[in-house]
Amino acid sequence: MTKTRKPTPKRYVLLNGSPRRKGNTAHAIAAVQKQAAQAGIRIKTFNLWDMDFVGCTHCDSCMKKPDKPGCKPKDDLNKVLKNVHKADGVLLASPVYCWSVSGSLSTALDRFYCFFKPEGSLLQGKKLAAIFTAGGDADDGADLCVSMTERLGKFGGMDYRGSMVVTSCGKPKETAKREDLSTLAADLVKNL
Ligand SMILES: Cc1cc2nc3c(=O)[nH]c(=O)nc-3n(C[C@H](O)[C@H](O)[C@H](O)COP(=O)(O)O)c2cc1C
Repeated sequence: MTKTRKPTPKRYVLLNGSPRRKGNTAHAIAAVQKQAAQAGIRIKTFNLWDMDFVGCTHCDSCMKKPDKPGCKPKDDLNKVLKNVHKADGVLLASPVYCWSVSGSLSTALDRFYCFFKPEGSLLQGKKLAAIFTAGGDADDGADLCVSMTERLGKFGGMDYRGSMVVTSCGKPKETAKREDLSTLAADLVKNL
């Protein structure tokens, strides 16, 4: 008798750049997590606003460590970078702030510099997707966040799987009741 092995679940690391624990982005993330759990995808979430970290200082010491992130500052983000290195995929999540991602996510992404070694990208082949919430329409900055994610994926040799964009967000309590959240989340999760 041959034993059939259960497939290993896909492991994603989610970097949440929203400062509001019960905000619009949190509701979008919850919708994705619900669908991902049903699909057997594991998501480990890091709430960047609860963490203490600095940006990239361009010291380049990481460039001398070809097989690991090797990022010099010993702060809370090191754990995130190590988890990203081990994961099958990365999920970015952020409110749109001034036609970009939030400062905390932007600062964390600067530290992704350590993955791009002279020998090649440590993110090569990893999946990449994103969740953005916006007060405006899709072309009021969410489009630029999506473009940034695509460019990051292209530069890092990653497998970009799409972005969930929740536009016209008002109060989080209203967002929680939106019927389109589960459809948008399902559309993203089927590609993860
Ligand atoms: C500082 C700041 C800047 C913002 N800039 C934009 C923007 O450029 N485009 C947009 O569509 N919405 C913008 N918004 C609205 C937020 O993206 C929206 O309310 C988002 O859903 C908030 O997510 P959160 O509840 O997780 O914090 C901005 C909100 C703030 C507080």
